[in-house]
Amino acid sequence: MHLPSLLERKRDGGALTADEIAGLVRGYVRGDVPDYQMAAWAMAVFFRGMNDDETTALTMGMRDSGEIFKWPVGTPPKVDKHSTGGVGDKVSLILAPLLACEGVWVPMVSGRGLGFTGGTLDKLESIPGFRVNLPWPEMLAQLERVGCFIVGQTADFCPADKKLYALRDVTGTVASLPLIVASIMSKKLAESLDRLVLDVKFGRGAFMPDRKDAQRLADAMVAVGRGAGVETCAVLNPMDEPLGRMVGNALEVAECVEVLQGGGPRDLVELTLELAESLVPAGKEHLRARLQDGSAWGKFIAMVEAQGGDASALSKMGEIHRAPTIIEVAAPRDGTLTRLDALEIGRLSTELGAGRGKAEDQIDFAVGVECLRKQGEKVSAGDPILRIHSRVTVDGGRIADRAITVS
Ligand code: URA
Repeated sequence: MHLPSLLERKRDGGALTADEIAGLVRGYVRGDVPDYQMAAWAMAVFFRGMNDDETTALTMGMRDSGEIFKWPVGTPPKVDKHSTGGVGDKVSLILAPLLACEGVWVPMVSGRGLGFTGGTLDKLESIPGFRVNLPWPEMLAQLERVGCFIVGQTADFCPADKKLYALRDVTGTVASLPLIVASIMSKKLAESLDRLVLDVKFGRGAFMPDRKDAQRLADAMVAVGRGAGVETCAVLNPMDEPLGRMVGNALEVAECVEVLQGGGPRDLVELTLELAESLVPAGKEHLRARLQDGSAWGKFIAMVEAQGGDASALSKMGEIHRAPTIIEVAAPRDGTLTRLDALEIGRLSTELGAGRGKAEDQIDFAVGVECLRKQGEKVSAGDPILRIHSRVTVDGGRIADRAITVS
């Protein structure tokens, strides 16, 4: 492969062949293709895009750059969900055990939070003892015994994505649709799934605010998934206000416990059921009953214990992780809550310490934001709207200006 010629072709709007893309990815992971050439290619892709065949070739090349889950013959169907992320999105913690109740296997490889959206692994690590890194034999044994696990990516899982994502992050090439598609789908395809649902968010608190862009992303991911033989579907969901009421790691685990015990906020429950319904041959009401009769809760406890977590902590997350300062932010006037701004609440929660500005930042499990009211509700002046869990003194009036509108 003469790399400069490939880069010139891409720069001028041409397409690379599947073999050329596979060679580029292999060379990059091995260290034969230097960062400066890969960065030039990523920038050319950013401006020129990729056709469907190129996107598929990149996805497969990245999937094949490391270990791929290999399932024993005759084991149950493997299913998973990917969400493009949002504020207060804690669905994975509820969905995995709920699906496991239906006899499928849920081998969920999740990520950490970066920027204003939270990460599933960070939430789980607020449960004392919970391990997100399991060796393969333990993962398999846990699926046989419990039916689900939620773990982080190991060094051997899609290493090309890890390396390329870090490069994109510092070269202004993250926001490229084909690169996003390949990044997300390579990791999901390495799980060797039978079925996958993609929860693609749009709106203020989403990674793709524009609905049309979110639809294009969804369509492209579905095409790649189906092309790889995985039954793939996508749902588009708004992310203008946080999902559920809690934003922050231990707060969100406490909210998941509520849902798994049959309660919890309606939007979170309904979205979880909608996603679950697309992955197993069971209707919403049957799945709702699994939340209400303790089955999903039992599975969640089994998963937490199997991964080393202290299940007795689940009923007292608020005591284990208590922020020293808790203040309420009140409605400035009578009216309707028309804005409960997911982006601002996500940013605020990150500033309080619940999220990361940089990959190496430490997470504070105790801090975050409770949304006491949801968009569209009637409120009176002085009604508490947000409860802020913080380590430092915060200015409620400024937070109100920033995050809510009552009109
Ligand atoms: N999430 C990913 O895993 N990769 C991207 O490129 C963007 C979001």
